[in-house]
Amino acid sequence: MVGVSSSTATAEKISWYCALFMAIMLVLSCCESSSEGEFMVRMTQQQQQLRNIVVKKPCDEIYVVREGETLHTISEKCGDPYIVEENPHIHDPDDVFPGLLKTRGIRQVLGSDLFDFKPTKLFVFGDSYTDTGNTGKALSYSWKPPYGRTFPGKPDGRFSDGLVLTDFLAEYLGIETPIPYKFRRIGSKYCRRGMSFAYGGAGVFNTWFPLPNMTKQINFFEQVLNKDRVYTQSDLHSSAALVSLCGNDYFVYSLRNGSMQLTLNLKRIHGLGVRKVAVTLMQPIGCLPKSSAAYSYQKCNETENSYVKFHNHLLRQAVAELNNQTMDSPFVILDLNRAFETVFANKGSRKFENPFKPCCVGISKGYSCGSVDERGMKKYRVCENPGSAFFWDFGHPTQAAWHAVYLALREQF
Ligand SMILES: *[C@@H]1O[C@H](CO)[C@@H](O)[C@H](O)[C@H]1NC(C)=O
Ligand SMILES: *[C@@H]1O[C@H](CO)[C@@H](O)[C@H](O)[C@H]1NC(C)=O
Ligand SMILES: *[C@@H]1O[C@H](CO)[C@@H](O)[C@H](O)[C@H]1NC(C)=O
Ligand SMILES: *[C@@H]1O[C@H](CO)[C@@H](O)[C@H](O)[C@H]1NC(C)=O
Repeated sequence: MVGVSSSTATAEKISWYCALFMAIMLVLSCCESSSEGEFMVRMTQQQQQLRNIVVKKPCDEIYVVREGETLHTISEKCGDPYIVEENPHIHDPDDVFPGLLKTRGIRQVLGSDLFDFKPTKLFVFGDSYTDTGNTGKALSYSWKPPYGRTFPGKPDGRFSDGLVLTDFLAEYLGIETPIPYKFRRIGSKYCRRGMSFAYGGAGVFNTWFPLPNMTKQINFFEQVLNKDRVYTQSDLHSSAALVSLCGNDYFVYSLRNGSMQLTLNLKRIHGLGVRKVAVTLMQPIGCLPKSSAAYSYQKCNETENSYVKFHNHLLRQAVAELNNQTMDSPFVILDLNRAFETVFANKGSRKFENPFKPCCVGISKGYSCGSVDERGMKKYRVCENPGSAFFWDFGHPTQAAWHAVYLALREQF
């Protein structure tokens, strides 16, 4: 998804940014490497917080049923449909006696549901929906308040108030959030969980800024494999990849056709040795606040959603053909479109009152979430409870939304 504002004001700054970009990246890489200890502490704290958010403690493999609970209430509480569908010894789901109940044991089977094996590493390629800190501080508002307010409590490069798709998917697989590529040297200890090459604002093709497009992201991966030799072939064989390109190509070129290039990219990632590759279908981009604003956040732009349907149709076909060419069906589709729609329709386990209305907005035209004026005065407004909003800013979901989307995605496996 989009990682950089496309307002005219920003457009004027582009050349300035471009000139600064390289210099700043150099400065950043040296400054950041000086704080190794701090980095380690941060990673560890974040992982603990993340676990508390994602893993629901009451739903261990054996669940203690209390008075008045039914299979339905427990299933809802644990986000685990298995409890209702697969407990053969219980005939009436509304009639459960206090005692013990077998749940699916959320973390342990899940990875194998999605990939039919349990990966030990996750590699991520994509944009702001998956970026966990790669995009440079100078380039991206994701490093400014109020981003990161819910998790980890201050901006850390995620385009949300907190966790994003990468965090939830990794947790689901029982892997810790992969380290951002940018931090591979300072945090080399953390490389064994995998690595994220995702950059907010990136596309299959080049987009607004000199951000690594997907080809470039895979080049980085190849370099890590061949030059830095961080991973062995057997590491790769027990790893999976997430590929998630959520619309920047479309925002820049409107109807440019990314599915063929994307298909080549998928093949390349698998060709490098990654055992399974999950690719997301595109979400309904016409429902992002930047489009729904024209309808007072009451409905989506269906023209834009029809582009998405076409894109997703081509991508599905391409993936089916790729899988048809190999024995082990290495490519898996994650239907982000259906998951978003499920949550929008309030069918998911979390309800959002008006899903198209963003939580954080600029106070007037020309300002957006995170804007400040020359004197550093903030020019944005944040809603009272980000946990009740689906969208955080003009195009990115809140942590609560990602959690809901993730639960809806899980129903697909
Ligand atoms: C990706 O970026 C590189 C470097 O800017 C460029 O040479 C290449 O053509 C781009 N690839 C695509 C598919 O746009
Ligand atoms: C996109 O590519 C597909 C597959 O090659 C082709 O069938 C389709 O017509 C193309 N669409 C556009 C808008 O170029
Ligand atoms: C809906 O999207 C299309 C394509 O981007 C655009 O041309 C049109 O103006 C949008 N409609 C509204 C009401 O903004
Ligand atoms: C898969 O390959 C077989 C044989 O080559 C072909 O008959 C079938 O239509 C293909 N299916 C898809 C989805 O491409």
